[in-house]
Amino acid sequence: MAVPFLDLKRQYARIRSEVEPAVAEVFSTQYFILGPNGKALETEAAAYLGASHAIGVASGTDALLLALRAFDLAPNEGVLTTSFTFFATAGAIHNAKGRPFFADIDRATFNLSPDSVREFLAKKCAREKDGTVRHKETKSAIRGILPVHLYGLPCDMDELMAIAKEYGLFVLEDACQSFGAVYKGRRSGAIGDAGAYSFFPTKNLGGAGDGGMITTPSSERAARLQKLRVHGGRERYYHDEIGYNSRLDELQAAVLRIKLRHLDEWNKERANVARLYNEGLAGIPEVVTPQVPKDRNHIYHQYVIRAKDRDGLKAHLEARSIGAMIYYPVPLHAQKCFAFLGYKTGDLPETEKAAAEVLALPVFAELSEAEVAEVCGAIRAFYGERC
Ligand SMILES: Cc1ncc(COP(=O)(O)O)c(C=O)c1O
Repeated sequence: MAVPFLDLKRQYARIRSEVEPAVAEVFSTQYFILGPNGKALETEAAAYLGASHAIGVASGTDALLLALRAFDLAPNEGVLTTSFTFFATAGAIHNAKGRPFFADIDRATFNLSPDSVREFLAKKCAREKDGTVRHKETKSAIRGILPVHLYGLPCDMDELMAIAKEYGLFVLEDACQSFGAVYKGRRSGAIGDAGAYSFFPTKNLGGAGDGGMITTPSSERAARLQKLRVHGGRERYYHDEIGYNSRLDELQAAVLRIKLRHLDEWNKERANVARLYNEGLAGIPEVVTPQVPKDRNHIYHQYVIRAKDRDGLKAHLEARSIGAMIYYPVPLHAQKCFAFLGYKTGDLPETEKAAAEVLALPVFAELSEAEVAEVCGAIRAFYGERC
């Protein structure tokens, strides 16, 4: 049996009767940008996330970029993040005039390791006698931490927030893969000074095109972001600063409002698929299934295993028409475009090991028990054949 990596048509079949009239309504009003649906989605998403303010933007990448712009990085100021993430995380830091720095990940969760962050900051900063923190390299002083809730699992936010407080840093959460995930009773992305979300169609809350959102507890920052998304002006044709054209359009917002109402149910169904995988793959010594600390939940935007001979397993699954993907084969510190940052192989051992071992298996709310069994059977056969 072929098993697709993702089949969005199955999701659409469930909500078609809700989506079609909502889209038709947008067309009938001919109101496409910054209209009632966008406003309503911001209110509904903020309530769902437990955030004071939500600002719709054109993509998750723009959510990161605009949020970083609102922290006013001086040229080359540092933002500490993970190298094991989608490109946009570090690309946005560079495009906001900052300089990305990378700490290593935690082996169990694939997320930024608080120990590695501490170690990095201890080297970069000195503590004065009065307790204040001094950045040794003033040209690239660290201003913020940008944790990524990778695959849908929240980072160790208590630890990261405590470190940020100690060093006087902002925290911008990249929640582009974790809409709805909960850490100690709070939604990911609504814990730090700002959170960035992506509504790329393949995300667990995906639109019908590009889209993104920023949340923040600060009214001042929210007002700034509302300006930044319309070329930096509160009043049309009067520009306080140089901003962007980055709005979440009405068609996206209309679709996302419907999907948001189903999200908890879909996230539960994803978690059930993950449970079936955990059971089906238990006891295979060559496979490590996702580890979820007790104080948070995983929304399984991706279900990612570590696998011995990962590339061989991927080829084996593909030969059986089973989808499998590698997120991410090349960590950001090893990307050609970031060579100027001066990292070398071996600098981030856990990140590099993960990049060589991870494999994402099909996961979506509508994936059937039989399909999960097919994938698990194929994985067992791969290692069995080689025993
Ligand atoms: C971790 C992470 N950050 C940022 C982004 C960027 O989001 P978008 O594709 O909506 O620009 C993504 C999306 O793939 C992501 O996974």
